[in-house]
Amino acid sequence: MAKAAGPVNVSRDSTKKDTRILRADAAAIADAAAVLRAGGLAAFPTETVYGLGARADDPRAVAALYAAKGRPSFNPLIAHARDVNAAKQIGDFNDAALKLAEAFWPGPLTIVVKATSNESVCELARAGLDTVAIRVPSHEVAQALLASVDFPIVAPSANRSGHVSPTTAQHVADDLSGKVDLILDGGASQGGIESTIVDLSSGTPRLLRSGGIARNEIEKITGPLASANKDEVYAPGMMAAHYAPKAKLRLGASDANTSEAYLAFGPVPASAQGAKKILNLSCSGNLTEAAANLYAYLRALDASGVEGIAVAAVPGEGLGEAIRDRLARAAAPK
Ligand code: TXA
Ligand code: MG
Repeated sequence: MAKAAGPVNVSRDSTKKDTRILRADAAAIADAAAVLRAGGLAAFPTETVYGLGARADDPRAVAALYAAKGRPSFNPLIAHARDVNAAKQIGDFNDAALKLAEAFWPGPLTIVVKATSNESVCELARAGLDTVAIRVPSHEVAQALLASVDFPIVAPSANRSGHVSPTTAQHVADDLSGKVDLILDGGASQGGIESTIVDLSSGTPRLLRSGGIARNEIEKITGPLASANKDEVYAPGMMAAHYAPKAKLRLGASDANTSEAYLAFGPVPASAQGAKKILNLSCSGNLTEAAANLYAYLRALDASGVEGIAVAAVPGEGLGEAIRDRLARAAAPK
């Protein structure tokens, strides 16, 4: 289908690249497709967070991606596909997986199924597992990019491993400038929190990561979801001490001292008003708005150089489950 478009300047050397940031118009998307085709690294916006893309079928490109992120190579990647049909090329969809895909794709849901044997998602990208995590993103730039290539694109969040996920092109540049070939700037990600990951590769549907689609929405289709097995390093993004800013987080705080920042949700209590800096995830207490602001605000408060960030309590229902999960990981001892 897609043909290589002339010479592409892609460096295989992950130590220093000349990172270009381009507004995500048609020409830039074609440029990113050419970078990926040649085995390079291109970051692109999705409706959840920005992803760092590499072609899924090229172990050298995938190795370069792990190196750029500083990610332990046992942590498998999500393969992004254009639609359900493309997804079926890379994974074996049982009835339950198909029903879930039809309900939520394109969108912020990742489904884990058995991998097909064709190596279109190479073993390194799967970290040696016989399963594969697949997502069909809805963002128009991600869709256009996937439509311009004839391979799946693996894309972890485009941050340094363990750091806060990026929701703008600038966040990506802050973390990965010099390590990636190209960053497509498509504005701020609307969702702001990663996809929900559901494992349907065995008989029992399991929620491996809460995310952009709330548990109860998924359970309407799958029935009750089992939790991830805590002893397994199975979805290593589920490890504690992930999504971490430099400042120490104090959760469930209704107060803040003058050396702390305060990350509010709803009205700011009087006892927190003396904080060095205050940002509000959602003044009206809206969880969707809070999810979209979470990572950008953690980055902004961290950049202000405070020692600690006191974080207001966030309710646990709906998207609140994913927000609480990310906050708990950001607060975990490093
Ligand atoms: O919203 C998202 O999902 C974003 C955007 C860019 O699509 N991507 C993302 O990727 O969050 P990443 O690499 O940061 O997180 C992927 C998670 C990790 O926790 C990984 O362990 C898990 O998916 N994972 C990947 N393949 C898996 C598999 N076969 N079985 C279980 N977990 C898997
Ligand atoms: Mg990540």
